[in-house]
Amino acid sequence: MKAFSEACERNKEPILAVLQPLLQKSQAVLEIGSGTGQHAVHFARELPQLTWHASDQAKHHPDLRERFAEAALPNLRGPVLLDVSQPDWAVLSVDFIFSANTLHIMDEKMVADFFAGVAKLLPAQGQLAVYGPFNQAGQFTSEGNARLDAWAKSTFPGGGIKDLEAVLALALNHGLNLQQNHAMPANNRLLHWLRD
Ligand SMILES: C[S@@+](CC[C@H](N)C(=O)[O-])C[C@H]1O[C@@H](n2cnc3c(N)ncnc32)[C@H](O)[C@@H]1O
Repeated sequence: MKAFSEACERNKEPILAVLQPLLQKSQAVLEIGSGTGQHAVHFARELPQLTWHASDQAKHHPDLRERFAEAALPNLRGPVLLDVSQPDWAVLSVDFIFSANTLHIMDEKMVADFFAGVAKLLPAQGQLAVYGPFNQAGQFTSEGNARLDAWAKSTFPGGGIKDLEAVLALALNHGLNLQQNHAMPANNRLLHWLRD
């Protein structure tokens, strides 16, 4: 049975509500770390005017393929093999990159690779949206996020919720200018950047 995320079911509508206006003029999206593929299917179905390229590490591909075959959406592509720490990111022509709940799974080097790779792939005026939990001024923003951080640290080497300020500085170093920092349900944020 393919993997299923309750959190995805809860957060897909609030995320779509923020993404939809941002994607008005976009043609092609790359999603990094598609996981179960529930976001990819939902967003591709609700945004039929654009092409959604899902991606992830190889271990997620069987589930992603199964879910995408069932969905049979003409504008949903992939899964593309993409590990942010590998230098050879797939050469895709996209004007928008989206990623949900990935940075707290990654170590600092992977987060740096994430922003370097995004900045390389996006054209000028391309957009990046990242959804997930962030610490502010070195503090957890909720008890739930403190528990999530403990789980991430014990499960993934170097994992843990990242500081918002450090992520924004890293992004800026790669020519990504923050446009909006949206508060989302369950103490998550949706950060929206524009590439120089
Ligand atoms: C908690 S899951 C989130 C999945 C999905 N985006 C969601 O919101 O449910 C974290 C995802 O990050 C991906 N990930 C972790 N390290 C990665 C890396 N180095 N490169 C690409 N994806 C990575 C995992 O494979 C996994 O799909």
